[in-house]
Order: sequence, then C-alpha cells, then structure tokens
Amino acid sequence: MKRIVIFASGNGSNAQRIIEYFRGRNSARVVRIYCNNREAYVLKRAVQLKVPALLFDRNDFFHGSRVMNQLKQDMPHLIILAGFLWLIPESILSAFSGRIINIHPALLPGYGGKGMYGNRVHQAVLDAGDTESGITIHRVNEQYDAGEILFQAKCAVEPGDTPETLAARIHRLEYKYYPEIVERMLDEMG
Ligand code: GAR
Repeated sequence: MKRIVIFASGNGSNAQRIIEYFRGRNSARVVRIYCNNREAYVLKRAVQLKVPALLFDRNDFFHGSRVMNQLKQDMPHLIILAGFLWLIPESILSAFSGRIINIHPALLPGYGGKGMYGNRVHQAVLDAGDTESGITIHRVNEQYDAGEILFQAKCAVEPGDTPETLAARIHRLEYKYYPEIVERMLDEMG
C-alpha cells in the first residue's frame, strides 16, 4: 500500500476526489492533509472523510521543523499539491526529490507563475480570447509552475464562458485525470 499526502490551501475538492478514489482501491491511501490556511474548507472535508490534517503557518513551513518532521513520520511515496499556493522550500524538495507533483488549471507554460491560481487563471485565458484551455500536471521545483510537465488534457473555451463556467469544465478534467495520473506514477515506482 503506497502512501500519499496532499497539500491544499482552499476548497479541497481535488483532495476529496483523490481520497475517495483511493478508498475504493488497495493500491494507495491518503494518510494526511497538510494545510496552511485555518479557514480552508479542505479542513472540514478532512474531518468528514476522517483523514488526519496538519495545519501549519508560514514560520512552520519555511523556518521550522514541524512540517518536515510530520513528513518524515508519514513517509509519503508521493506529495500531491492540490490548490496549494506557497512555493515548496528547498529542504522538502530535496528530501522528496522528484516525488512532489502539482496540478495547474491551464495549459502550462501559459498562464502560470506567482499569483496565477484559481479564477485569476481562467480570467486571463478569457481575456486573451483563447479557444482552448486545460489542465497540466507537473513535477514541482523551486519555481512556480515550472517543473517537468507530466500530463496535459485540453477542453474548449466556449463563447459566453465566465471564469466560473470555465472553472467547472476544468474541474471535471482535474477530477478525472489527477487520481489516474497519481495512480500511474505510484505504479511506475514499483
Ligand atoms: C484547482 O483548479 C487547481 O488546479 C488550482 O486550484 C484549484 C483548487 O481547487 N490550482 C492552482 O491554481 C495552482 N496554481 P480545489 O481546492 O477545489 O481542489
């Protein structure tokens, strides 16, 4: 049984989807949610789904040892970012080299970088008049949205789309593919 942890800052619908996907299988289990925002709805989901959560602040993450110590105990095969908005510090990147992945709600390298998350991304795609958008799953490195691209899927941008309607279409792609790509990566680890 492989071990997964999920880092999330907000709503946590992808986190829930991944937890539920692996509940129906014996291959892996989400052992903890790591969250940097005490108001985040993902913390309520964690309670409902009976997944332990670690709430941490900026100091814990960038200067302290709480997060690293918990990770050492959890021993995850894969660290999954799902709507997590801080850069990952070098200490964690090097301890889990190549084993941290993120999902981004657009076709990178377009529409990435600092401050590009959630509806801001969709608004930028609409402002540019693009006719398609999509999702990107990529490895995490020391820069925002710049690590090796592992998977992309596309969808149409429809006339009359708002950031909300486009977000809903993108979320459907995320829910379908993020658990599958995680599962494939875990399989490939042997
Ligand atoms: C997702 O659409 C994810 O791709 C995006 O935040 C949303 C989180 O939704 N991530 C980024 O924009 C990262 N730059 P969720 O909390 O409901 O899973």
